[in-house]
Parts: sequence; structure tokens; C-alpha cells
Amino acid sequence: MAKARFSRIGFILAAAGAAVGLGNIWKFPYITGMYGGGAFVSIYLITVVLIGFSLLAGEMLVGYKGGKDAVSSFEIVAPEGKKGWKYAGFMLFSGLIIMTFYSVVIGWIFHYIYLSLTNSLPTDINQAKETFDNLVQFSPVTATLWHFLATVFVAVVLLGGVKAGIEKANLILMPLLLVILVGLLGYAMSFDGFSKALHFMFAPDWSKINSEAIVRAVGHAFFTLSIGIGTMVTYAASMSHKQSVFKAAMWVTILDTLIALIAGVMIYSFIFEYGASAAQGPGLVFKTLPIVLTKMGTTGIVISIVFFLALAFAGLTSAISLTEPAVEYFMQRFHFSRVKSVVLNTSLYFIVGIGAILSYTKEYGKTFSIGDKPLFDALEFSTDSILLPLGGLAIAIFVGYVLKEQDREHIIKHQVNHTIYKIWLFSLKFVAPAAIIFMMLNNFGIIKI
Ligand code: TRP
Repeated sequence: MAKARFSRIGFILAAAGAAVGLGNIWKFPYITGMYGGGAFVSIYLITVVLIGFSLLAGEMLVGYKGGKDAVSSFEIVAPEGKKGWKYAGFMLFSGLIIMTFYSVVIGWIFHYIYLSLTNSLPTDINQAKETFDNLVQFSPVTATLWHFLATVFVAVVLLGGVKAGIEKANLILMPLLLVILVGLLGYAMSFDGFSKALHFMFAPDWSKINSEAIVRAVGHAFFTLSIGIGTMVTYAASMSHKQSVFKAAMWVTILDTLIALIAGVMIYSFIFEYGASAAQGPGLVFKTLPIVLTKMGTTGIVISIVFFLALAFAGLTSAISLTEPAVEYFMQRFHFSRVKSVVLNTSLYFIVGIGAILSYTKEYGKTFSIGDKPLFDALEFSTDSILLPLGGLAIAIFVGYVLKEQDREHIIKHQVNHTIYKIWLFSLKFVAPAAIIFMMLNNFGIIKI
């Protein structure tokens, strides 16, 4: 049977669906708020263009040429004598680790869709805190049920495979997401808060930037483009060979960045219109936004339903992409059926995810912790600060140094002009490794500026 491949638009939407996720709509706005706005956004944008894009195209190249799961693709693409590089493909397990908490957060979003539908969103800051803490610290059973629902959704789509599952889900959910976000942005444009939001997001105040802000911006650029766990290797393995890797990577980068910026401006328009503060941290969309929206009466409730739905769509298409690399791996290396592989992998992260949920509860927090970190935070830290940068570094070195020039050329060079090819290679060889090493040293407190 011929292998099922994405259509061109199917591949771009699936890869963009992987990239656009909670990172864009939940995390990007709140870290922008934490680090003071415009200057942080500028660093993030520069990193995306100079480093993120190059790594994204590099990761896609490995899949395009390898045509298999991440481990096999690295093995196939590596030159003779360097086949040990297949172990770089083990980065796919980081996807399962991310899923242990990512799925829990999608569960929280489901809970907020439910609260919006039943008109029980909080109306002031104390209530907002109470509602969120109630879910996260005191209701592990509720949180687990929502986490289960998120897991089932992901499993069902993955059971459909590349074409009937992944491509189809993205063809439906991604346009819906875009329409919702642009609609909300259009509505927010009528606010006085809109110009304040634009100013906050795009007028850089460089005095707010320190090394921590830079590191967070670089780390976020990787996370948001879905680099470093083999998602893009796995998806690109099923892309049509009539399609340009370089152009596809460009589209994905543009869509991902655009959606993060739209989400940021839209959310901050609401926040500033009602005089709330930008520096709220992770509670921004779960605590602050609902209060703002409930002030708007019925319109606000409709907006909150639509907004949390969009957030759920974004999260689910990314969740699918975080799990598929492991699913393909077990299918191709161990000849599992798709059903068996999907059930195994989703069950794995579902179970560990329960530990993550319990680690935030008052009752079991102590039991489910590693050092002084709740399991949830430890899982997040290990991926964000260690595994993703390592994955990114592996890709930069592999594509920049290990791969034969003719292989790189064969794919990338005839797709772009010579100067752009040189810039891309320079970024992979020098800029990306330097930035990643700086970031890792900083995360471990070895260098501070
Ligand atoms: N990029 C997604 C987000 O912004 C998350 C994600 C999906 C991801 N696949 C990934 C992150 C692969 C790193 C690697 O939410």
C-alpha cells in the first residue's frame, strides 16, 4: 500500500497546527507581560527569524529525506560511519514528557469552556483565584476527568492516521481557530485598550531586558515552533516531494508568529480596556481575562466561550503533533499496529499526567514532587530547559555539520537562492548552537549577565 501523504496545504496546516498551540495563546501573552512587553517581543521576533526558522527547516529536511519515524530518519540520512546519530531521534520521547502536563492544561481549558457555558465564570479577582485554585489544588478528580477527555480526543485523531486523522483535524480546526482569533481581534479594535495594547506589544523599553528575559524569549521561540522533539521530522516524512521544505517552513513560521501576535494584541486590548495589569503570570488567561469578560455581560460570555474553544483547538492540534512521533516510532521500529501504538503512548502520558495533577494538590503535593519542585513543574522544566534545547542543538549540529553538503544542497539549495542558503547554513552552524549553549548555561545559573 502506498504511504498516505499530506496534501500541500494539509502539510502546512498540520505543521502550523503543531506550532500554534498553548504556547501562542496562553504562554506568549503572559511571558510578554512578565518581561515588560515590546522589548521582549522584539527579541522573540529576532530569534524566530534568525534561529527558529533555520532549525525548523533543518528538522523538516531530515524528515523529508528520511521519510520515516524520527529515529529511522536520522539513521537513514546520516552518512556511512555516523549512523549512531539515530539516537538523536530519541528526542521524540520529549514529546510524551511534554504531553504529561500539556494534556492537563488542555483539561483546564475544557473546564473553563464548561464554566463559560454554564455562566459560572468568576467576576472579581478573589473569585478568579478561588475558581482556579479550586480546580488545580482541590479537585484532582475533576482535573483528571478533563485530562482524560483531552487524551481521548488526541487518541481518536491519531487512530485515523496521517491523512484521515491528522490532516483532517487540522483542515477543520486551524481555519476555525484563525477565524475566531481574527474575529476577536476585530472586536477588540473598537476599544481604547487596542492602541494601548499595540503600544505595549511593539514599543520596546530596553531597560526591562535582562539575561533571563533573553533566555525565556529564545526558549519560547523553540517551543512555539515545535522544534527539538522530532515533530517536524515525523510530519515532513509524509510530505509530498513536490513541495518545497523551505517554503513550507516559511509559511509555518509566518502563521505561528502572526497568531501569537494576534492573540497577544487581542488579549491585551481586553486587559487594558478594563484597567487590569499586564504582569499576571500564568494566570493571565485563566484568572484575569475571565474577570474582564464577565464585566462585559452577555457579549463577554459569548466571547469567553469562543476564546476558550479557540484555545482548546490550538492545544489539541499541538497535542496530536507531540504524540505522533512516538506513535510512528513504535509502529515502524517495533511493528506495532497503529491502534496498539496509540493506546500505549497516550496511556503512558495520561498516567504520568495524573501524577502532575496530584503534584499541585494540597493533599498529595509532597508525595509527587522532585526535589523542591512539584512534578508538574519538574516535567515542564526538564523539557523547556534541557530536552528541547538539546534536541535543537542536535538538529543544528546534524544538519549543519554531519550531513553531506550534497544532501543539504539537494533539498534546500535548488529551492532558494545562494545567499539565503548561505545565511541559513551560517545560522545552523554558528548562531543556533551559540544561542542554545548560552541558554542552557543560563538556565543552570552557570552564567548570568
Ligand atoms: N508549539 C506548541 C505550542 O506552542 C507545542 C508543541 C507542539 C511543541 N509540538 C511540539 C513544542 C514539539 C516543542 C516540540 O504550544
